[in-house]
Amino acid sequence: MYEQVEKPKENKSRAVVHSVNKDNLREFHVLVDNRQKVTNGMPETEKNSKRIGPDTITQRRKSFRVSSNELGRDTVIQRNLDENLVNITNITKKTDDVYFVSHQGGEVVIKFKGDLGKDTVADGALKFMGHKAPESKLVSVHYLLQKIIGKEAGSAAGIELKKKLEDTGLLDVLVAEKIPGVALGDDATIPTDKTKTFLNEPEFAFDLGNIAAIDLLLGHEDRILAGLNFGNIMDTGNNSGSKLALIDNQIENNRGVIDFVDVMDVIKNKESKYALRTKNMMEGLLDGEGFNLVSFHQGFVLGLGKFLEMKTKLEEYIKEKSGGSIETLKENSDLLTATIDNDEFYKALGSARQNRATMMFDAQTKKKSLQEKQPENKGKKSFFSSLFS
Ligand SMILES: Nc1ncnc2c1ncn2[C@@H]1O[C@H](COP(=O)(O)OP(=O)(O)OP(=O)(O)O)[C@@H](O)[C@H]1O
Ligand SMILES: [Mg+2]
Repeated sequence: MYEQVEKPKENKSRAVVHSVNKDNLREFHVLVDNRQKVTNGMPETEKNSKRIGPDTITQRRKSFRVSSNELGRDTVIQRNLDENLVNITNITKKTDDVYFVSHQGGEVVIKFKGDLGKDTVADGALKFMGHKAPESKLVSVHYLLQKIIGKEAGSAAGIELKKKLEDTGLLDVLVAEKIPGVALGDDATIPTDKTKTFLNEPEFAFDLGNIAAIDLLLGHEDRILAGLNFGNIMDTGNNSGSKLALIDNQIENNRGVIDFVDVMDVIKNKESKYALRTKNMMEGLLDGEGFNLVSFHQGFVLGLGKFLEMKTKLEEYIKEKSGGSIETLKENSDLLTATIDNDEFYKALGSARQNRATMMFDAQTKKKSLQEKQPENKGKKSFFSSLFS
């Protein structure tokens, strides 16, 4: 069994994670998120978008057309976050610091704990780069209280949320889009029964590798880099791209994590220390059944390749934002680029691309032949439909 260790960061009390050895640890589809540029048809600065209150909030259209400079064509983006809390119908409590509020404009998450300013920048950067992550922003506690008082939806959770807002002492809390779906584990270290059914699927290993790559950019260790935290990955059940969405995102200096993971070792070697460590963790949960190292490696290398491809977008995002966490993101991006910008990486990337294409082709061929043999399987989906549908 694997030891369970408290995450070492003070101030965050992030979840308990699985970890085999933490001694060395110091511490896609282009979705263009340029809502900072265009909100209600008007330019909006990052400051305005991060801190909103009664004066600055107006009802927003649910979707609008924006133009992407880089693509040189119009792209439709969907706004998923409505923080106005009009006609609250239900309030529930997920944890002491996480509440869900249903209202006319959808469902939102209100979060009290974490480096909330940084966390919303992390969410934004992930979305900007095409990953599944919640749209989020800081919203003034004063504003939320005005919306909630008298509309606690008749529930104990509503009354508690109101009290929490009154007592928090914070000026702003994080309001995020509620991602439809369920976390891979209610507990950080314990996968749900459904999660257990796909832990050994190659596509899951691929997605974990991908997530590890993007978390290296964020310097976010509390998902897969330091151990496993199933609470920070959501199964969206969505068929486009990966089904997994990233929540509870953070930005930290990534130097320690890059060293700990030994990024070039992972890139060069499918059986790197870090990959084997991940395999051990997964197989501990699977009682010894196989974790696909090849897929994990592909996901990792292709995730880093995607990061390099999306860097221009990331830099656009960084340019639009201000504040300390953005400097950290820029430094992280530069360090990650410097770490992987070498022949070994491009060699691994070329071969991962080729292997992936072959694997997808083989899977399609296999599926076709299965369907021919057993027509009743037609239309059946594996958890990871990208491979089998
Ligand atoms: N945006 C979201 N959409 C859907 N569910 C969410 C969202 N954010 C949080 N949750 C749910 O609430 C749980 C806890 O949220 P989160 O991971 O953000 O906080 P936490 O782990 O308690 O915080 P911390 O790591 O700071 O201690 C998640 O595992 C998930 O089930
Ligand atoms: Mg969490």
